[in-house]
Amino acid sequence: MVIQQNISLQPFHTFGMDVKASLFAAFKTTDELQAILAQRAANTERILILGGGSNILFCNDFDGLVLKNEIEGIELVMETDEHFYVKVGAGVNWHQFVLYCVHHGYAGVENLALIPGSVGASPIQNIGAYGVELKDVFYELEAMRIADGEMVVMKKADCLFGYRDSIFKRAYQNKFVITSVTFLLHKKPVLNTTYGAINEELREMGVSNPLLNDIAQAVMNIRNSKLPDPTKIGNAGSFFKNPEITQTHYHQLKLQYPNLSGYPTSANKMKIAAGWLIEQCGWKGFRKGDAGCYQKQALVLVNYGKASGNEILQLSHEIVSSVFEKFGIMLEREVNVM
Ligand code: EPU
Repeated sequence: MVIQQNISLQPFHTFGMDVKASLFAAFKTTDELQAILAQRAANTERILILGGGSNILFCNDFDGLVLKNEIEGIELVMETDEHFYVKVGAGVNWHQFVLYCVHHGYAGVENLALIPGSVGASPIQNIGAYGVELKDVFYELEAMRIADGEMVVMKKADCLFGYRDSIFKRAYQNKFVITSVTFLLHKKPVLNTTYGAINEELREMGVSNPLLNDIAQAVMNIRNSKLPDPTKIGNAGSFFKNPEITQTHYHQLKLQYPNLSGYPTSANKMKIAAGWLIEQCGWKGFRKGDAGCYQKQALVLVNYGKASGNEILQLSHEIVSSVFEKFGIMLEREVNVM
């Protein structure tokens, strides 16, 4: 397998900065990956595994080896009366996988239509949207340990899924390359329309008895109306997580800001829409140079062309400070900064 030198990462991530990797290798099979790992000059080299590159902000060139996962394939591996078990190569584009499922009547991922990125990246931050998270449809994954090239299988409990979080963002960060994910999908759709916007959109579409493809279409319409298309405007989706605050803090704020919306979480806390907080601080639509806060969804930071990673990062720090000053809430980043 070829390890290339000094490669531009611009085509491989959605924020669009022209940064370089000192070493770069793409692989289409686990054998190819194993060969690349065996060929590495030193075990101490930094490694970065890229899927769709849709949750990363590069502030510098990457001095180390970038591994680009291009393992393809979607396979129905098992069926029961109620479920389909579908094994998917980590390099498969997430949205293509969703469309495949909708087309084949595999239910469970339709609310996750149009999320950018690859299937292999989906467990890392437990992607989620419109009331569904990856963990709801996850069965198991296969991964290769970088240290010795051994393949391991991890079940749901091993992955420690949380809100936009898993063991792969923590103890296992850059220790494993996910090579496939197996999903547990339903034969009888359990449609999740708990998220208000989906019902509204279905009404507008004139659909009263939605099928899988109606839900996927509703989600695609909503996303297209608020989220910037990364092929046109550089971005990495939500830049921050929606913060959790205590009930007491919530009630204090609610007196001052009656429009504050939040919903209770299991830990007896309230989850608050970070987009709303940012908008209240006046950032929505803000632009300095080519770095901006998207005008239709304040949670998304955008690169209008030539913004550097540091300009976006600087803007994010200013947003964090002003939200903290106004609301006493410290926003946490969702995007990985390199
Ligand atoms: N809001 C504003 N102003 C804004 C943006 C949002 O007031 O500029 C308020 C609205 O009132 C809205 C509420 O925030 O009712 C929630 O907004 P939205 O439905 O757009 O969702 P979100 O909470 O901002 C989360 C996820 C998205 C996911 C959507 C839909 C996080 C960090 N983000 O955003 O995920 O698509 O819900 O489920 O949890 C991503 O992770 O990259 C991502 C895009």
